[in-house]
Amino acid sequence: MTLTSHNKSAFSHFLAALFILVSAVVTVRASAEDKIELSIDTTQAGATISHNVFGQFAEHLGHGIYGGIWVGPDSKIPNTRGIRNDVVTALRAIRVPDIRWPGGCFADEYHWHNGIGPAGKRGVTLNPNWGGVIEPNSFGTDEFMDFLRQIGAEAYVSVNIGSGTPREAAEWLEYMTAAKPTTFEKERAANGHPAPYKVAFLGLGNESWDCGGNMTPDYYISQMKIYSRFVRNYNPAQQDKDQMLKIAVGPGGDGPRWTDWTEAVMKAYQQHTWSWDINGLSMHNYTVVNWAHKFASEGFGETEYAQMLKETLNMDKLIATHSAIMDKYDPEKKMALVVDEWGAWYAALPGSNPGFLVQQNSLRDAILAALNLNIFARHADRVRMANIAQIINVLQSMILTDGSKMVLTPTYYVFEMYVPFQDSTPFSVTFDAGTYSHDNITLPRLDAIAAKDKTGKLWLEVTNVDPKEAADIEVTLAGITAKGATGETLTAPKVDSINTFDAPNTVTPKAISTKVEDGKLTLHIEPKSVTVVSIEQ
Ligand code: AHR
Repeated sequence: MTLTSHNKSAFSHFLAALFILVSAVVTVRASAEDKIELSIDTTQAGATISHNVFGQFAEHLGHGIYGGIWVGPDSKIPNTRGIRNDVVTALRAIRVPDIRWPGGCFADEYHWHNGIGPAGKRGVTLNPNWGGVIEPNSFGTDEFMDFLRQIGAEAYVSVNIGSGTPREAAEWLEYMTAAKPTTFEKERAANGHPAPYKVAFLGLGNESWDCGGNMTPDYYISQMKIYSRFVRNYNPAQQDKDQMLKIAVGPGGDGPRWTDWTEAVMKAYQQHTWSWDINGLSMHNYTVVNWAHKFASEGFGETEYAQMLKETLNMDKLIATHSAIMDKYDPEKKMALVVDEWGAWYAALPGSNPGFLVQQNSLRDAILAALNLNIFARHADRVRMANIAQIINVLQSMILTDGSKMVLTPTYYVFEMYVPFQDSTPFSVTFDAGTYSHDNITLPRLDAIAAKDKTGKLWLEVTNVDPKEAADIEVTLAGITAKGATGETLTAPKVDSINTFDAPNTVTPKAISTKVEDGKLTLHIEPKSVTVVSIEQ
């Protein structure tokens, strides 16, 4: 399990500070012809970038579950026990580490017992948060666990604190994890699953300050303690080192309301007793320029591109703010900051149900995803888990489906290109790239991370935010001699280029040519691109 603390926080702070310094000090833009010197110091390693930072979120919302993951065993769409085969194949390739389910706001109105047992005998309910549609409960606990097994991911289950009871949540965990013949264990076995499931992560409510029950911090904390105490994991395999990690509701934005929330939960954590414990604090932060007038996800121009990227870079400040509060109460960094809802949130596509949060996914979103993943990497000492919202057909998704059709989004390809960074060891990267300006917005022109994967291979990622200027980079490596390099770039003709069912390859990674001479690597980085290179030593 990788939510353990790391003693490399000082170095991570140094990395974060260095990035800000590089971004802030350089105000003169390097011209397109200038070679940018980028150096990687492999002698200084930071905290491990946990694979869980590349986690996903699947809520009962619109066509995220129904149509996206679940089509039912009788569907003509090829499936395994009701779960789409095309989606499973695509998700296996990006090595999804964990999936947060069943919500979101949905979680605090979810009653798990409706979602087990024979098809046709399940409770049929409503989904008041998301369009008021019928919730057939055909996809429930056993289907979720089957989906996880098919794609090779771990379970992050959010229990209902808002409208449920500690008893209901405790019984759900008993159903999922008990190995002894209790009533719920026998019910699970009768449903075809004699072996206990592993629940790696438990979310104690969702946005309890809003859709999860409009609670004050103190009220939430008293509820959270009760759930932490009584919602137990009985799986014998999870009693020792591989214990279920409990994640408390944390902040949902910038400002005193949210810092007060973090202060309160962290203070409670500092004073916790043997009878209850938490291991992570959730944080939600969507990239939205104006909630009242959300941007369009397609057919936009450079101004909206620059505004969204500027907005998304606030993730760094938000993490730094809440990490600093966590440091006060937890200097050993035992608690993880879990950014379990993040991504771009646009206006619903015209003609779609507004409650289904359907949006397109463009090259802009790929760049936005890379910038956020790099921010998480620079805060790896505290951010040890993150879940982009949401996996299929909802918000900034990996995959879009329409009946039997499926297309992989530009964001999907970023997650695919970043697979080598899962559980990698980051190194310090320094460069002086200048700025990109448009209208009254000025942003760092380039972003980059470098890390060694589990096999010892060195990887470099470079994001070029500038939509017009390419960047020529000369990479020097302290501590190793480069012998060769291979890499790929994700770019497209326009910032709003998208993949469609008819043209699925507009935004897909393409191999790039690299040059290594005298141990120095030279790279030509396309405008508006995400590039990942592996460096042979
Ligand atoms: O991801 C969509 C919604 O955004 C989630 O249900 C909720 O937690 C958040 O407000």
